[in-house]
Order: sequence, then structure tokens, then C-alpha cells
Amino acid sequence: MNKRSPVHFHDLQMPVVDFRQDILTGLLAERKYIAPKYFYDAEGSRLFDAICKLPEYYLTRTEIGLLKDHGPEIAACLGQDATLLELGSGSSVKIRLLLEALRPLLYVPMDISREHLLQSAKTLAEDYPWLTIHAICGDYTATWNWPFTLLQDSHRVAWFPGSSIGNSTPRQAVALLGRIAALLDNGGSLLIGVDLVKDREILEAAYNDSQGVTAGFNKNVLARLNRELDADFQLDRFQHRAFYNAGEQRIEMHLVSDGEQTVRVANEIIRFRSGETIHTENSCKYSIAGFQQLARQAGFEPGQVWTDADELFSMHYLQVQK
Ligand code: AVJ
Repeated sequence: MNKRSPVHFHDLQMPVVDFRQDILTGLLAERKYIAPKYFYDAEGSRLFDAICKLPEYYLTRTEIGLLKDHGPEIAACLGQDATLLELGSGSSVKIRLLLEALRPLLYVPMDISREHLLQSAKTLAEDYPWLTIHAICGDYTATWNWPFTLLQDSHRVAWFPGSSIGNSTPRQAVALLGRIAALLDNGGSLLIGVDLVKDREILEAAYNDSQGVTAGFNKNVLARLNRELDADFQLDRFQHRAFYNAGEQRIEMHLVSDGEQTVRVANEIIRFRSGETIHTENSCKYSIAGFQQLARQAGFEPGQVWTDADELFSMHYLQVQK
């Protein structure tokens, strides 16, 4: 039996008052919105895992294929014995491939979903007893008081899987990548999965699956507000809508109010017009050159890029500019 290494856990989770305030700000705005990070309670994380296995959702399996096909080359870029930071845990298949290829000394996953993060960190600790793990529960779009001292000795590499960068608009993405560059420091590098611009039909099918899992994932955020913020959304009075906005190069997800209605959320009354939407997600798509330009603006020097034969998905190796 292997002796498993302990999982060190750092909780940087936002206080409930901030969660409530953030939700109310979005629902009281002229154009209503809920940030996509709030999808990921325990149920939302479970639904997201189910999305990743859907036939229409090509992103996950294509990214896994890239890691499998180019593992040694990717490892040669990133280097052995690193401190590996992971922003938002993807599927466990991906991190396993990367850990086995890279053999980092230290693995620092950061994720907003506590149960998900802890469970996966514990399983990885059992399977890789040679690995030190510091799991950080928190929001990488907002939290920058990371336990920096953890990162000191070995060279730093970051892994940002799944095209989660697509949740940020290009402007926000430059800011987020800029903060990652600052965190990585000189000599650091980033491996990032980015979904590519492609035909509308393929994109829209990926966010409108025939089994309705994505619709359930979208609506779960309302169920979560009912559970955690004392809201009274009627889930059957909101419809899932996902479409490709070609001008903005992004999939948008919305929840559409079925008729006029009022909803109570944490002691506030929220009014909906018939057909009014809550914008719940952007999933921005990029060309390879378009993403490289964005990376440069954020302080990275683009290196190798890997794509699949159908050019569905891309993986970029980026180095912090000297
Ligand atoms: C985790 C943000 C990459 O945008 O494809 C999947 C989330 N939303 N289906 C994506 C998601 C609906 C996913 N990201």
C-alpha cells in the first residue's frame, strides 16, 4: 500500500454576504446577469461533468486528445520538477495526463467548487504519493491573495484547461492573463486550452444538447439561489437559451422569463418582463492568431500551438515575456 501524502487545504471562499450582494447587483441591473462562476455548486459541478461527456460537447474530449497526442512535446516545453498551478479543475482525465507527463514537485489546484476540489485532490493524493498538493478553494477571477510562499522554489507553470478563459470577454481575458503572468514571474509559462471559432451549427449544438443537460446546468443556478439565498424562482417559468453571437465571437447563455413575473431573492423583489433574460454566460471563441494577439497584450510570448485535425480546439504554450 502506498502511503498517501496529505492534501493541504486553503479556503479563500467569498463570504455569503458578498455572494448575495453580487447576485442582487446583477439581478437589479438594466440588463440582468448572473456570473457563470455561480453555476458551480455541488450539483452544478456534477452537471458540468455530465456536459463534458455529451456527444455534442466536443471541447473536453478534443482537449484530452491533444494532451494524449502531444504529451511528450508539451512536457518538454513546460519542464519537469515544476510547481504546477491549475486554474479551475477540468476533468480528472486531463490533470492525470499532465501530472504523469510533467512530474511536478508541487500541484496547486484552485477551484471555486469546494466538494469537487477536495474530492479530486484526495483521489490524486492517493494515486500520486510522490506529489505534494495544496488545494485552494476560491475564485481565480477575483482572488489574488494566493499563498505565494508556496510557489517559491521550483519554476512555475500554470494550466488553464477547458477554454474557461472564454468566460471572460477579451478585455477581461487580457486582465486575467496579465495577473497570471505576474503570478508566474520570469521564466514561468502557461498551458491554456482555447476553443476555436467555427461553424455556428457545431457551436450551437454544443450548448443545446439533445438530452437537455446544458439546460439543466443553466437552470440549476436559479435552484441554487432558491437553496442558498432564500429565493423563490419557479424553474419551469424560465427557459434555457444558448446562441452564437457572431459579432462578439461568443456563445451566450441566457434564462428567458416565461411571461411577466416577480421573484423574491434575499428580501428583494425582482421584476421580469415577458421574454426578459438573465445573461448567465459568455463563452468566447478565438482564432489562433486572435488569441496569440490577446496573449501578447497580457504579457505573454506565444509559443507552440496544438490543434486537432478538424481544428475544433487549440492548446497554447505561452511564456511570460522577459
Ligand atoms: C467551462 C466555461 C469552458 O463555456 O463551454 C459548458 C461552460 N457552459 N456548457 C463552456 C459551459 C455550458 C464551459 N466552460
